[in-house]
Amino acid sequence: MKGIVKNSGKGLIALACGMLALPALAIEEGDILLRVGVVSVQPDDSSSVLTTAATGPLAGTAAHVGNEIQPGLNLVYMLTDSVGVEVLAATPFEHDLSVSGLGTYGFKTTDLGSTKQLPPTVSALYYFGPTGAVLRPYLGLGVNYTIFFQESLSRQARSELAGHGLRLQDSFGLSVRAGFDWELNDRWLANASLWKIDIDTKATLGSALGKIRANVDVDPYVYMLSLGYKF
Ligand code: NI
Repeated sequence: MKGIVKNSGKGLIALACGMLALPALAIEEGDILLRVGVVSVQPDDSSSVLTTAATGPLAGTAAHVGNEIQPGLNLVYMLTDSVGVEVLAATPFEHDLSVSGLGTYGFKTTDLGSTKQLPPTVSALYYFGPTGAVLRPYLGLGVNYTIFFQESLSRQARSELAGHGLRLQDSFGLSVRAGFDWELNDRWLANASLWKIDIDTKATLGSALGKIRANVDVDPYVYMLSLGYKF
């Protein structure tokens, strides 16, 4: 019995050593990684007060942006064994927009409407660890261009505020990035990663009080879980 335990112990150690010594994924110069998965955009938002043409700033008001999850895709090209260029793409995200603080001024509207957005982001990645490692963490720095489109107002905003013509200005800003690729076999990998993106926009709409404006910092955390394939 003791012998079996001892032998199987040796076997496990040999197996573990064997696994570590296996020719690993070896993310290296010239590789293209295609990752497909789920992207969650979670705004860390803050906004100015709403200002209307008729009243000026409305103290105590604010605009808010809701969370959203979509399929997403990213592509990495390895310039060297440690440095890659990555592009994040996704199907359009649709976020709920809301307002708070209008009750003070006699309005019931809280649901403002929604907007779609696409946040293409290009990042430079720096991979840590030796090229053959099973787990390769990385950090990155990039630029984001966010396109807002198909802004639409809620029924309440249209009827109570006589809202129309909601528009969110596109945003250009920096993003920071962290994540890791984990080898599953020679070709496949699992990836978990995070972006923090600086997305600032100006929201405007027409209303019974004239033009309403608010500056909104969306500044989301973007999480992605994906499966990757190495070409
Ligand atoms: Ni910002």
